[in-house]
Amino acid sequence: MTRFGIIGGGLMGHGIAVALAQAGHRAGVFDNDPATLASLGERVGSAVRRTATAGARVAAIGDRVSAVDSLAELAKQADVVIEAVSERLAVKHDVLASLEPHLAPDTPVWTNTSVLSISEVARAMLHPRRLVGVHWWNPPYLIPLVEIAPGAETGPDFADHAHGLLTELGKTTVRLHRDVPGFIGNRLQFALVREALHLLAEGVCEPGTIDTVVRAGVGLRWTAVGPMENADYIGLDLTRAILGSLASTLSTESHEFPVLDRLLAQERTGRAGGRGLFDWGAGRAEEVAARLAAGIRHNLSGPA
Ligand SMILES: NC(=O)c1ccc[n+]([C@@H]2O[C@H](COP(=O)([O-])OP(=O)(O)OC[C@H]3O[C@@H](n4cnc5c(N)ncnc54)[C@H](O)[C@@H]3O)[C@@H](O)[C@H]2O)c1
Repeated sequence: MTRFGIIGGGLMGHGIAVALAQAGHRAGVFDNDPATLASLGERVGSAVRRTATAGARVAAIGDRVSAVDSLAELAKQADVVIEAVSERLAVKHDVLASLEPHLAPDTPVWTNTSVLSISEVARAMLHPRRLVGVHWWNPPYLIPLVEIAPGAETGPDFADHAHGLLTELGKTTVRLHRDVPGFIGNRLQFALVREALHLLAEGVCEPGTIDTVVRAGVGLRWTAVGPMENADYIGLDLTRAILGSLASTLSTESHEFPVLDRLLAQERTGRAGGRGLFDWGAGRAEEVAARLAAGIRHNLSGPA
Protein backbone atom coordinates (compact mmCIF):
# COMPACT_ATOMS: atom_id res chain seq x y z
CA MET A 1 0.00 0.00 0.00
CA THR A 2 1.35 3.42 -1.01
CA ARG A 3 0.22 6.66 0.65
CA PHE A 4 -0.37 9.38 -1.92
CA GLY A 5 -0.73 13.09 -1.19
CA ILE A 6 -2.76 14.88 -3.83
CA ILE A 7 -2.60 18.68 -4.09
CA GLY A 8 -5.76 20.00 -5.75
CA GLY A 9 -9.05 18.23 -5.10
CA GLY A 10 -10.90 19.39 -8.23
CA LEU A 11 -12.05 17.31 -11.17
CA MET A 12 -8.75 15.46 -11.62
CA GLY A 13 -7.52 15.43 -8.02
CA HIS A 14 -10.63 13.70 -6.65
CA GLY A 15 -10.75 11.35 -9.65
CA ILE A 16 -7.10 10.33 -9.26
CA ALA A 17 -7.77 9.72 -5.56
CA VAL A 18 -10.58 7.32 -6.54
CA ALA A 19 -8.34 5.52 -9.05
CA LEU A 20 -5.68 5.03 -6.37
CA ALA A 21 -8.18 3.96 -3.71
CA GLN A 22 -9.74 1.43 -6.10
CA ALA A 23 -6.31 -0.20 -6.34
CA GLY A 24 -6.03 -0.39 -2.52
CA HIS A 25 -3.86 2.69 -1.91
CA ARG A 26 -4.56 5.63 0.38
CA ALA A 27 -4.88 9.25 -0.75
CA GLY A 28 -4.80 12.41 1.35
CA VAL A 29 -6.13 15.40 -0.61
CA PHE A 30 -5.35 19.07 0.04
CA ASP A 31 -7.08 21.99 -1.71
CA ASN A 32 -6.82 25.68 -0.78
CA ASP A 33 -10.54 26.11 -1.51
CA PRO A 34 -12.45 25.06 1.64
CA ALA A 35 -15.67 24.34 -0.32
CA THR A 36 -13.80 21.96 -2.63
CA LEU A 37 -12.31 20.15 0.33
CA ALA A 38 -15.68 19.99 2.12
CA SER A 39 -17.36 18.34 -0.87
CA LEU A 40 -14.54 15.81 -1.41
CA GLY A 41 -16.27 12.86 0.29
CA GLU A 42 -19.51 13.35 -1.61
CA ARG A 43 -17.74 13.67 -4.98
CA VAL A 44 -15.57 10.63 -4.28
CA GLY A 45 -18.73 8.63 -3.43
CA SER A 46 -20.44 9.64 -6.70
CA ALA A 47 -17.34 8.78 -8.70
CA VAL A 48 -17.05 5.33 -7.12
CA ARG A 49 -20.72 4.65 -7.86
CA ARG A 50 -20.10 5.64 -11.51
CA THR A 51 -17.62 2.77 -11.78
CA ALA A 52 -20.49 0.36 -10.98
CA THR A 53 -18.60 -0.98 -7.96
CA ALA A 54 -20.70 -3.28 -5.78
CA GLY A 55 -22.27 -1.68 -2.66
CA ALA A 56 -19.93 -2.80 0.16
CA ARG A 57 -16.79 -1.84 -1.74
CA VAL A 58 -18.05 1.73 -2.36
CA ALA A 59 -17.59 2.63 1.31
CA ALA A 60 -14.26 0.81 1.60
CA ILE A 61 -12.86 2.71 -1.38
CA GLY A 62 -14.23 6.02 -0.08
CA ASP A 63 -12.61 5.42 3.31
CA ARG A 64 -9.16 5.32 1.70
CA VAL A 65 -9.54 8.95 0.57
CA SER A 66 -9.34 11.73 3.15
CA ALA A 67 -9.18 15.51 3.19
CA VAL A 68 -5.96 17.03 4.55
CA ASP A 69 -5.74 20.52 6.12
CA SER A 70 -2.36 21.75 4.96
CA LEU A 71 0.57 21.06 2.64
CA ALA A 72 2.73 20.31 5.70
CA GLU A 73 0.29 17.61 6.84
CA LEU A 74 0.06 16.20 3.33
CA ALA A 75 3.87 16.05 3.02
CA LYS A 76 4.16 14.27 6.38
CA GLN A 77 1.80 11.49 5.29
CA ALA A 78 2.81 10.97 1.65
CA ASP A 79 5.12 8.43 0.01
CA VAL A 80 4.35 10.07 -3.36
CA VAL A 81 2.91 13.55 -4.00
CA ILE A 82 0.67 14.29 -6.98
CA GLU A 83 0.23 17.92 -8.05
CA ALA A 84 -3.21 18.46 -9.65
CA VAL A 85 -3.81 22.19 -9.13
CA SER A 86 -5.05 24.62 -11.78
CA GLU A 87 -3.21 24.65 -15.12
CA ARG A 88 -1.26 27.85 -14.49
CA LEU A 89 2.51 27.80 -14.29
CA ALA A 90 2.64 30.43 -11.51
CA VAL A 91 0.17 28.44 -9.37
CA LYS A 92 2.13 25.22 -9.84
CA HIS A 93 5.39 27.04 -9.00
CA ASP A 94 3.87 28.47 -5.80
CA VAL A 95 2.52 25.12 -4.69
CA LEU A 96 5.77 23.24 -5.34
CA ALA A 97 7.87 25.93 -3.65
CA SER A 98 5.61 25.78 -0.57
CA LEU A 99 5.57 21.98 -0.54
CA GLU A 100 9.25 21.14 -0.80
CA PRO A 101 10.52 22.45 2.56
CA HIS A 102 8.13 19.95 4.22
CA LEU A 103 9.13 17.00 2.03
CA ALA A 104 12.06 14.56 2.25
CA PRO A 105 14.35 15.23 -0.76
CA ASP A 106 13.79 11.79 -2.27
CA THR A 107 9.96 11.75 -2.13
CA PRO A 108 8.68 11.58 -5.72
CA VAL A 109 6.44 14.38 -7.01
CA TRP A 110 4.24 13.84 -10.07
CA THR A 111 2.68 16.72 -11.97
CA ASN A 112 -0.60 16.16 -13.77
CA THR A 113 -0.13 19.15 -16.09
CA SER A 114 -1.94 18.78 -19.42
CA VAL A 115 0.18 21.00 -21.64
CA LEU A 116 2.86 22.79 -19.59
CA SER A 117 6.51 21.81 -20.03
CA ILE A 118 7.65 19.53 -17.20
CA SER A 119 11.04 21.26 -17.27
CA GLU A 120 9.29 24.63 -16.78
CA VAL A 121 7.14 23.31 -13.93
CA ALA A 122 10.31 21.97 -12.26
CA ARG A 123 12.01 25.37 -12.45
CA ALA A 124 10.66 26.40 -9.02
CA MET A 125 11.96 23.26 -7.31
CA LEU A 126 14.82 22.65 -4.91
CA HIS A 127 15.04 19.06 -6.15
CA PRO A 128 13.87 19.02 -9.79
CA ARG A 129 15.13 15.42 -10.20
CA ARG A 130 12.06 14.18 -8.35
CA LEU A 131 9.47 15.78 -10.66
CA VAL A 132 7.89 13.47 -13.24
CA GLY A 133 5.14 14.37 -15.70
CA VAL A 134 2.33 11.87 -15.03
CA HIS A 135 -0.69 12.71 -17.13
CA TRP A 136 -3.95 11.00 -16.23
CA TRP A 137 -7.08 11.10 -18.39
CA ASN A 138 -10.51 12.10 -17.16
CA PRO A 139 -12.18 10.21 -15.57
CA PRO A 140 -8.97 8.74 -14.12
CA TYR A 141 -10.81 5.87 -12.41
CA LEU A 142 -12.19 4.68 -15.77
CA ILE A 143 -9.68 5.61 -18.47
CA PRO A 144 -6.72 3.20 -18.34
CA LEU A 145 -4.13 5.46 -20.01
CA VAL A 146 -1.47 7.34 -18.04
CA GLU A 147 1.31 9.12 -19.96
CA ILE A 148 4.70 9.51 -18.27
CA ALA A 149 7.29 12.06 -19.39
CA PRO A 150 10.59 13.23 -17.91
CA GLY A 151 11.57 16.90 -17.76
CA ALA A 152 15.12 17.89 -18.68
CA GLU A 153 16.27 17.36 -15.06
CA THR A 154 14.10 14.40 -14.04
CA GLY A 155 16.11 11.53 -12.55
CA PRO A 156 15.59 8.35 -14.62
CA ASP A 157 15.06 6.46 -11.32
CA PHE A 158 12.03 8.68 -10.55
CA ALA A 159 10.55 8.10 -14.01
CA ASP A 160 11.15 4.34 -13.65
CA HIS A 161 9.51 4.36 -10.23
CA ALA A 162 6.40 6.17 -11.55
CA HIS A 163 6.18 3.75 -14.44
CA GLY A 164 6.49 0.69 -12.17
CA LEU A 165 3.97 1.91 -9.60
CA LEU A 166 1.34 2.95 -12.15
CA THR A 167 1.70 -0.27 -14.10
CA GLU A 168 1.30 -2.25 -10.87
CA LEU A 169 -1.81 -0.20 -10.19
CA GLY A 170 -3.30 -1.64 -13.37
CA LYS A 171 -3.00 1.46 -15.53
CA THR A 172 -1.97 1.30 -19.19
CA THR A 173 1.26 3.29 -19.06
CA VAL A 174 3.19 4.86 -21.91
CA ARG A 175 6.53 6.62 -21.62
CA LEU A 176 7.72 9.54 -23.69
CA HIS A 177 11.45 9.78 -24.38
CA ARG A 178 11.26 13.49 -23.64
CA ASP A 179 8.93 16.23 -22.50
CA VAL A 180 6.70 17.86 -25.17
CA PRO A 181 3.72 20.15 -24.44
CA GLY A 182 0.51 18.11 -24.37
CA PHE A 183 2.24 14.72 -24.06
CA ILE A 184 1.02 12.50 -26.93
CA GLY A 185 -2.71 12.30 -26.27
CA ASN A 186 -3.54 15.99 -26.15
CA ARG A 187 -1.38 16.69 -29.20
CA LEU A 188 -3.34 14.10 -31.19
CA GLN A 189 -6.66 15.19 -29.72
CA PHE A 190 -6.16 18.90 -30.43
CA ALA A 191 -4.81 18.28 -33.95
CA LEU A 192 -8.23 16.72 -34.56
CA VAL A 193 -10.12 19.53 -32.78
CA ARG A 194 -8.25 22.12 -34.87
CA GLU A 195 -9.25 20.35 -38.09
CA ALA A 196 -12.87 20.02 -36.88
CA LEU A 197 -13.02 23.79 -36.19
CA HIS A 198 -11.56 24.41 -39.65
CA LEU A 199 -14.34 22.31 -41.23
CA LEU A 200 -16.96 24.28 -39.28
CA ALA A 201 -15.39 27.62 -40.30
CA GLU A 202 -15.41 26.49 -43.94
CA GLY A 203 -19.13 25.64 -43.69
CA VAL A 204 -18.58 21.96 -44.48
CA CYS A 205 -20.85 20.61 -41.73
CA GLU A 206 -22.43 21.12 -38.29
CA PRO A 207 -20.70 20.31 -34.95
CA GLY A 208 -22.97 17.27 -34.42
CA THR A 209 -21.83 15.84 -37.77
CA ILE A 210 -18.20 15.92 -36.66
CA ASP A 211 -19.13 13.96 -33.55
CA THR A 212 -21.12 11.39 -35.55
CA VAL A 213 -18.14 10.82 -37.88
CA VAL A 214 -15.82 10.28 -34.92
CA ARG A 215 -18.22 8.21 -32.79
CA ALA A 216 -19.56 5.96 -35.56
CA GLY A 217 -16.39 5.87 -37.66
CA VAL A 218 -12.79 6.64 -36.75
CA GLY A 219 -13.38 6.48 -32.98
CA LEU A 220 -14.70 2.92 -33.26
CA ARG A 221 -11.75 1.87 -35.38
CA TRP A 222 -9.24 3.46 -33.05
CA THR A 223 -10.50 1.58 -29.99
CA ALA A 224 -9.40 -1.60 -31.81
CA VAL A 225 -6.62 -0.61 -34.22
CA GLY A 226 -4.58 2.55 -33.69
CA PRO A 227 -3.65 4.97 -36.49
CA MET A 228 -0.07 3.70 -36.77
CA GLU A 229 -1.02 0.03 -37.09
CA ASN A 230 -3.78 1.08 -39.46
CA ALA A 231 -1.25 2.92 -41.64
CA ASP A 232 0.65 -0.36 -42.05
CA TYR A 233 -2.60 -2.29 -42.51
CA ILE A 234 -3.83 -0.16 -45.42
CA GLY A 235 -0.24 0.11 -46.70
CA LEU A 236 2.35 2.81 -46.22
CA ASP A 237 2.24 3.51 -49.97
CA LEU A 238 -1.49 4.34 -49.75
CA THR A 239 -0.91 6.30 -46.52
CA ARG A 240 1.81 8.30 -48.31
CA ALA A 241 -0.44 8.94 -51.33
CA ILE A 242 -3.38 10.11 -49.15
CA LEU A 243 -1.14 12.50 -47.22
CA GLY A 244 0.31 13.78 -50.50
CA SER A 245 -3.18 14.79 -51.70
CA LEU A 246 -4.71 15.84 -48.38
CA ALA A 247 -2.01 17.39 -46.22
CA SER A 248 -1.93 20.76 -48.00
CA THR A 249 -5.70 21.16 -47.38
CA LEU A 250 -5.53 20.48 -43.61
CA SER A 251 -5.50 23.33 -41.12
CA THR A 252 -2.14 24.54 -39.88
CA GLU A 253 -3.74 27.50 -38.07
CA SER A 254 -2.00 28.55 -34.87
CA HIS A 255 -3.79 31.79 -33.91
CA GLU A 256 -7.18 32.34 -35.53
CA PHE A 257 -10.08 30.20 -34.32
CA PRO A 258 -13.09 32.26 -35.47
CA VAL A 259 -15.75 29.68 -34.60
CA LEU A 260 -14.63 29.60 -30.97
CA ASP A 261 -14.04 33.35 -30.76
CA ARG A 262 -17.53 34.12 -32.10
CA LEU A 263 -19.19 31.84 -29.53
CA LEU A 264 -17.01 33.09 -26.68
CA ALA A 265 -17.84 36.71 -27.56
CA GLN A 266 -21.50 35.75 -26.97
CA GLU A 267 -20.53 34.12 -23.66
CA ARG A 268 -21.39 30.74 -25.13
CA THR A 269 -18.71 28.91 -23.16
CA GLY A 270 -20.20 25.41 -23.42
CA ARG A 271 -21.61 23.26 -20.62
CA ALA A 272 -20.87 25.73 -17.81
CA GLY A 273 -22.40 28.67 -19.72
CA GLY A 274 -25.53 26.75 -20.78
CA ARG A 275 -24.70 27.05 -24.50
CA GLY A 276 -21.65 26.51 -26.67
CA LEU A 277 -21.37 24.49 -29.86
CA PHE A 278 -24.48 22.75 -28.48
CA ASP A 279 -27.37 23.73 -26.24
CA TRP A 280 -26.86 22.49 -22.66
CA GLY A 281 -30.48 22.51 -21.51
CA ALA A 282 -31.75 20.67 -18.45
CA GLY A 283 -30.17 17.31 -17.80
CA ARG A 284 -27.73 17.27 -20.74
CA ALA A 285 -24.60 17.53 -18.57
CA GLU A 286 -25.69 14.59 -16.40
CA GLU A 287 -26.66 12.57 -19.48
CA VAL A 288 -23.24 13.21 -21.07
CA ALA A 289 -21.38 12.25 -17.86
CA ALA A 290 -23.41 9.03 -17.58
CA ARG A 291 -22.99 8.22 -21.31
CA LEU A 292 -19.23 8.80 -21.04
CA ALA A 293 -18.88 6.46 -18.05
CA ALA A 294 -21.15 3.79 -19.56
CA GLY A 295 -19.42 4.00 -22.95
CA ILE A 296 -15.94 3.59 -21.47
CA ARG A 297 -17.08 0.68 -19.28
CA HIS A 298 -18.72 -0.97 -22.31
CA ASN A 299 -15.56 -0.61 -24.42
CA LEU A 300 -13.37 -1.95 -21.63
CA SER A 301 -15.54 -5.02 -21.09
CA GLY A 302 -15.75 -5.90 -24.82
CA PRO A 303 -13.59 -8.46 -26.62
CA ALA A 304 -9.92 -7.49 -26.98
N1 LIG B 1 -9.78 18.27 -16.73
C1 LIG B 1 -9.15 17.33 -17.41
O1 LIG B 1 -9.74 16.59 -18.22
C2 LIG B 1 -7.67 17.12 -17.19
C3 LIG B 1 -7.08 15.96 -17.69
C4 LIG B 1 -5.72 15.73 -17.44
C5 LIG B 1 -4.97 16.67 -16.74
N2 LIG B 1 -5.59 17.82 -16.27
C6 LIG B 1 -4.75 18.75 -15.50
O2 LIG B 1 -4.96 18.49 -14.11
C7 LIG B 1 -4.79 19.70 -13.35
C8 LIG B 1 -6.06 20.00 -12.56
O3 LIG B 1 -7.13 20.13 -13.48
P1 LIG B 1 -8.66 19.99 -13.04
O4 LIG B 1 -9.41 19.77 -14.30
O5 LIG B 1 -8.78 19.03 -11.92
O6 LIG B 1 -8.94 21.48 -12.52
P2 LIG B 1 -9.94 21.94 -11.36
O7 LIG B 1 -10.08 23.40 -11.55
O8 LIG B 1 -11.15 21.08 -11.33
O9 LIG B 1 -9.10 21.63 -10.02
C9 LIG B 1 -7.97 22.37 -9.66
C10 LIG B 1 -8.02 22.51 -8.14
O10 LIG B 1 -6.80 23.10 -7.70
C11 LIG B 1 -7.11 23.88 -6.57
N3 LIG B 1 -6.04 24.83 -6.33
C12 LIG B 1 -5.72 25.94 -7.06
N4 LIG B 1 -4.65 26.55 -6.50
C13 LIG B 1 -4.30 25.82 -5.41
C14 LIG B 1 -3.28 25.94 -4.44
N5 LIG B 1 -2.43 26.96 -4.45
N6 LIG B 1 -3.21 25.01 -3.45
C15 LIG B 1 -4.09 23.98 -3.41
N7 LIG B 1 -5.09 23.81 -4.31
C16 LIG B 1 -5.18 24.72 -5.31
C17 LIG B 1 -8.43 24.57 -6.93
O11 LIG B 1 -9.12 25.02 -5.78
C18 LIG B 1 -9.15 23.41 -7.64
O12 LIG B 1 -9.98 22.68 -6.76
C19 LIG B 1 -4.46 20.79 -14.38
O13 LIG B 1 -3.07 20.89 -14.50
C20 LIG B 1 -5.06 20.22 -15.67
O14 LIG B 1 -4.47 20.73 -16.84
C21 LIG B 1 -6.91 18.06 -16.47
